[in-house]
Parts: sequence; structure tokens; C-alpha cells
Amino acid sequence: MSDLALAAADRQVISALRSNKVPFIKTFFDNTTFTATHVVHDPATREAAVVDSVMEYDPAAGRTAHHHAQEVVDYIRANDLKLQWLLETHVHADHLSAAPWIQEQLGGKLAIGADIIRVQDIFGKLFNAGTRFARDGSQFDRLFHDGETFMLGSIPAIALHVPGHTPADMAYVIGDAAFIGDTLFMPDYGTARADFPGGDARMLYRSIRRLLSLPEQTRLFLCHDYKAPGRDTFAWETTVGAERTHNVHVHEGVGEDEFVAMRTGRDATLSMPNLLMPSVQVNMRGGHLPEAEENGTRYIKIPIDRV
Ligand SMILES: [Fe+2]
Repeated sequence: MSDLALAAADRQVISALRSNKVPFIKTFFDNTTFTATHVVHDPATREAAVVDSVMEYDPAAGRTAHHHAQEVVDYIRANDLKLQWLLETHVHADHLSAAPWIQEQLGGKLAIGADIIRVQDIFGKLFNAGTRFARDGSQFDRLFHDGETFMLGSIPAIALHVPGHTPADMAYVIGDAAFIGDTLFMPDYGTARADFPGGDARMLYRSIRRLLSLPEQTRLFLCHDYKAPGRDTFAWETTVGAERTHNVHVHEGVGEDEFVAMRTGRDATLSMPNLLMPSVQVNMRGGHLPEAEENGTRYIKIPIDRV
């Protein structure tokens, strides 16, 4: 992306933020995977978006369930909202998306970043997914490029490409709120890991600096929270100003090399998420389970000694 394109995209963000449109946001937190699902709606038109939903999965039994997603559906119905968008910030490695299940009941367009095709290529090869697994993003209704605008009801919105945690991460700025996926976490917890296939700590730092260049009052909504030492409640909302001042990994004054050394060192100590294998195989298909084999049963594969 040229400097000019970057500037144009960021100018559009600023103008969306200045629209004085304030979406209403209700968050559903999943205590098993520590994921925050946000339902954001335009109070004027009642059109809504679901950002990063969760399907339960019991890896020992190979069983799925939709209690968490059902709560989201019930909330949307009870409040007479019209689902316009299902927005995924990235191919999650720690939980399975419930987006297609919610879409079946409520409609709406399923969207993710256009670089999903790179992630599909990486994981399609790792899982030897075969030719029936399309690696062109066709499982989604819309693939956003950096700087693309869209509307949530009457509220202007913009998609930003913020790679680093994965190559395809997106942030969605909707009115005065930004849904930033796995980039920054709460100021007292820091930042997302950058050691998954295609991840890059240097790229993550640059994406974070871009998010931190938004106006300081911008509300930030995170994809995860794991609490932090000294804090015993979950939290998922902060501001650009709070992150700039207090983020333990990337507050003002932390340079790129310092961040990369910290992030790389810390990532080397982290184990893989429990639901990595099922999550990636389902989420690379837009939240659909792998196709059934000849006996009618769907399977999750585990590559041995590869990750
Ligand atoms: Fe993630």
C-alpha cells in the first residue's frame, strides 16, 4: 500500500469518526474461550452487525453447541434489530465462529478481510484440504480491502487491514467505535501474539501504531480479555487515549525494535491454544464444518509434528 493510499484510508476513518454517529453496543463474553462477541447497532435504523461470534466445541467429545450464539440471536430478536452484517476480524485460532449458524436464522452478509485467501492457502496446505476446499474467499459474502467503506444502517463504517497477529486481520471502525480484533488487548494486558503461521510482530507493531493514531476518544472494542494481574473482572472496552498512555506493551515511547523483542520473547513461552486445530479448520471455511465424508460424518484432522 502506498503512503498516499494509507493517507486516503485514514482520512476516511477520521471523517467516519466525525459523523457524530454513535452506535449502541452490547457485548456477550464467552468464559471458555475468553472471547467478546459484540452486537453493534444503529439506534436510528435498528440495523445491526455481529462482530466475532462463538460456537461451542468440546474437543474430547467432538461435539458442537450453540448456546452462546443463541443468546446473541435472542437479543437481536428481542430488540427488533435487523442483522445486516456478520463481521469477522480474522481467522480465529482459539474459538470456532458461529457466523453461518446465526446467518441461517437472521440473514445478513458475512464479511472478512480480502487477505483471507492467503490464510486459506497456508491452512489448506497444512490440513491437506483437497480441491473441494475453495481458497478464494468464496465462503464469504464480502471481502474487505484496506480502506473500503460500508454502512451500518445510517452510520458510516470503514474496514482497515491491520496484519500482524495473522496476515488478514481487519479492524472495523463504525461511527465512533472501532472493533480491533486481536491487535491490542486491555491496557493492563498488552497485545496479541504474533507467532501463528503468517504472523509478524513488526507488522503488528505498525498496525497498532496506525490504530493508536485515531482520535484519542475513539472507543475500542476488543476480541478477547484474559483479566490481568490485579484485575478480577473481564473487560473489553477501552479508548485510544487509554491505550496510548497505559498499554503495558506499546504505550507512547515504546519503539518498534523494543516491541518486537518483547513480543517475540513472550510468544516463545506461550503454548498453542486448546482449540487451535478445530478452530482453524472451521474458520478458514467461514465457520462451516468440513464437508461430510462418504459415511455422512464430518471430521477434524490433526497434523502430527507440524505446528
Ligand atoms: Fe485471534
